[in-house]
Amino acid sequence: MSILKVSQMGHPVLRRVADPVDPDQIQSEAFQRLVNDMEETMVAYQGAGLAGPQVHVSNRILVYQSQDDEGMPEIQTLVNPEITPENDEMEHGWEGCLSIPGIMGSVPRYTRIRVSALDDEGERVDYTAEAFEARVIQHEVDHLDGILYFDRMDDLKALTFRAEYKMFCAGHEDDGEEE
Ligand code: NI
Repeated sequence: MSILKVSQMGHPVLRRVADPVDPDQIQSEAFQRLVNDMEETMVAYQGAGLAGPQVHVSNRILVYQSQDDEGMPEIQTLVNPEITPENDEMEHGWEGCLSIPGIMGSVPRYTRIRVSALDDEGERVDYTAEAFEARVIQHEVDHLDGILYFDRMDDLKALTFRAEYKMFCAGHEDDGEEE
């Protein structure tokens, strides 16, 4: 396992639409190593999620910090994810991004989404995600489409450095993690 270099804003890989993963490749040693390295990289940088383009891999894969049915932390891998909002409701929340270090922004996101993807074994997963989990998934799927959270902001006044965020903007405990 190794910690991968995280691509930084301005690198073209972050603005490309990533290619789908061939499902037959998911079980391969190379792909499994990529998943493990992405997990290790996300944990090392204390990210809430990490997408392929953020480690210079233009493929539709993402990992994020999730919880199992008992509420224990686990890492979820999504391959070729498709997301659909379950209704029109959106809310603002603070986001950071490992590819845009030191900065936070308040971003509107759907509060409930349907997720359909393959997991790290190539099995189909289908579930509803809400609140912070839904936010992280939307942020990461955007990375697969070459979109950064700045692009989703409706008011650039809600852009702040992390230190100022902590002084003036921090409210909720689960807010403001880097993705
Ligand atoms: Ni990000």
